Amino acid sequence: MSDIQLSVQGLWKTFHPGLFEADVEALKGLSFEVGRGEIFGFLGPNGAGKTTTIKAICEIIRPDAGTINVCGHPHTAPAAKRKLGFMSESPYVYRHLSGREYLRFCGELLGLPPAGMEARIAGVLDEVGMASRADRGLGTYSKGMQQRIGLAQALLGDPELLILDEPMSGLDPLGRRDVRDIILARAAAGATVFFSSHIIPDVEALCDRVAIVVDGRLRAIGTVDELLARDPVSFELTFTGAALDGLATPLEASHERSDATWVRVATPHRDALLAELGGRGARLLSLNPVRISLEDLLVEHSAEPTT
Ligand SMILES: Nc1ncnc2c1ncn2[C@@H]1O[C@H](COP(=O)(O)OP(=O)(O)OP(=O)(O)O)[C@@H](O)[C@H]1O
Ligand SMILES: [Mg+2]
Repeated sequence: MSDIQLSVQGLWKTFHPGLFEADVEALKGLSFEVGRGEIFGFLGPNGAGKTTTIKAICEIIRPDAGTINVCGHPHTAPAAKRKLGFMSESPYVYRHLSGREYLRFCGELLGLPPAGMEARIAGVLDEVGMASRADRGLGTYSKGMQQRIGLAQALLGDPELLILDEPMSGLDPLGRRDVRDIILARAAAGATVFFSSHIIPDVEALCDRVAIVVDGRLRAIGTVDELLARDPVSFELTFTGAALDGLATPLEASHERSDATWVRVATPHRDALLAELGGRGARLLSLNPVRISLEDLLVEHSAEPTT
């Protein structure tokens, strides 16, 4: 990757919750890179260290060791901050402000020039579908509306690198589609997007590459296709003209439909089953590999002990 927009190298973080509580090793030497223009998904089970990593990138917490570069600058540099837009897992919003007032406040904190500020705010409100609700108090917003305002805030500075912690959580299917569209539009306009998520279909639909983190360590990284490119774990067959009774080959599952028989067989037993069915005069209608899904992969990695 020639043009790296986010580089995280050897990140370690241990939390010390208190005198009588055990330390929590949240990050154990985590490293990865995200290239310009990529949409990058950050996956892992609860407590894996995703939010801790994101907070470290945005300098909300300080790692014990490691280096982070944002758009070619050390992440602590003001130049890095200007290029980064961040939406937190639980956007903290000021209940007494309206959506528009909140964005004005955020714009001032970002140091955006006052000239053009209102137009810029109107633009992002429109982008997240909140223009008609912008003058209502944040305290009256639903979770989904708060999420959208949080996203508007992240987009306000027109960032080169968007970092979103669980941007789809709490949204209905329409809201999720809107957020997907916003991410795609920003990426098409040249932004790099890094987001954590538990919603696998969104990750599969959007991400150029994904990383799986478990227990503070990187477990897998690559395109979705690369991560899923494995031999099929089993095969599904449909056939007619032969009964299932007395088959010697072990099956994972079977179902005798009115029009055909459906079976699932583990890959090592596939050829034996085909031979056996052939011997019984069966007519094969279909034979399809069952590939591992991203969800299966995540469950597999989450379940494996870490070393
Ligand atoms: N301030 C803190 N003090 C103590 N422990 C913490 C603190 N913040 C996070 N942790 C611990 O660090 C680990 C990683 O937490 P983190 O929030 O990064 O996980 P996550 O991957 O974002 O999980 P989720 O999917 O639930 O959002 C967890 O064990 C968590 O309890
Ligand atoms: Mg989190």
